[in-house]
Amino acid sequence: MSGADYIQHKIMIMSGKGGVGKTTVAVNLALALVETGKNVGLLDADITGPNIPKMLKIEDEFPSGDGERLVPVYLPVGCDHGISVMSMAFMIERDAAIPWHSPTRLGVLRQFVDEVQWGLLDYLIIDLPPGTGDEPLSITTMLDVDGAIIVTTPQDVALPDARRAINMANEAKIPVIGVIENMSGFVCPNCGIRLNLFGEGGGKRLADETGVPFLGSIPIDPMIVRSGDDGVPFVVEPHSSTVRSFEEIVERVCDAVHT
Ligand SMILES: Nc1ncnc2c1ncn2[C@@H]1O[C@H](COP(=O)(O)OP(=O)(O)OP(=O)(O)O)[C@@H](O)[C@H]1O
Ligand SMILES: [Mg+2]
Repeated sequence: MSGADYIQHKIMIMSGKGGVGKTTVAVNLALALVETGKNVGLLDADITGPNIPKMLKIEDEFPSGDGERLVPVYLPVGCDHGISVMSMAFMIERDAAIPWHSPTRLGVLRQFVDEVQWGLLDYLIIDLPPGTGDEPLSITTMLDVDGAIIVTTPQDVALPDARRAINMANEAKIPVIGVIENMSGFVCPNCGIRLNLFGEGGGKRLADETGVPFLGSIPIDPMIVRSGDDGVPFVVEPHSSTVRSFEEIVERVCDAVHT
């Protein structure tokens, strides 16, 4: 980063397990923060499985250059705000495999932080790859983040992985902002009956047990699948109980970061 760049809060979204909704949370959290008037960057730290550009429908964009450094792709949101996005997906052919060893992937990520012209940001949201192995740990320590948000699904089999992610953050001395329980029940749109497809309350139990805040839960909602596939984040959809649940989570994140 140069003297012209300043990032006030770096928040990473992590979980030990794959497919639990990290990228969905990262994209929608970034959008929700932009809508409150903040300057927000979004860093796709998943070098081999970068999905953020697809979830924002900007996968055909390219970062520009200022002669020395890369300028992130800017997605306007409303009249005077937008999100600055950096992802490996901008740098490769669509669907190309990225058969790089971990040191190469980490090197690229370091460049994404240090050699990208992020400008002045209130928040940089960082979407981590799944797992708690060598690479997520290196990213965690390398990026010097202010806090971590852990995403889990409610079922017992997901919880040990989420617990490992909390332990990893603790070992790296990164404050855990809290746990989000995603895919928490499904309300049938026809009969209104709630089905707890993946069990219930695991995220809250994990938070209580590990002494970290519980930030809230997000139900399984077909609108979220559609929004990810269509590249339109669900926080910009018309209001629904799912969007309200998410907005409450965003408020808790902001409160935690500012206290
Ligand atoms: N609450 C939800 N309701 C319905 N679908 C969801 C929900 N959360 C996420 N999804 C869907 O589940 C899929 C996986 O989500 P996502 O890519 O965000 O997970 P991830 O943890 O980032 O995965 P990976 O570990 O591969 O990076 C996506 O198709 C997404 O649209
Ligand atoms: Mg992801």
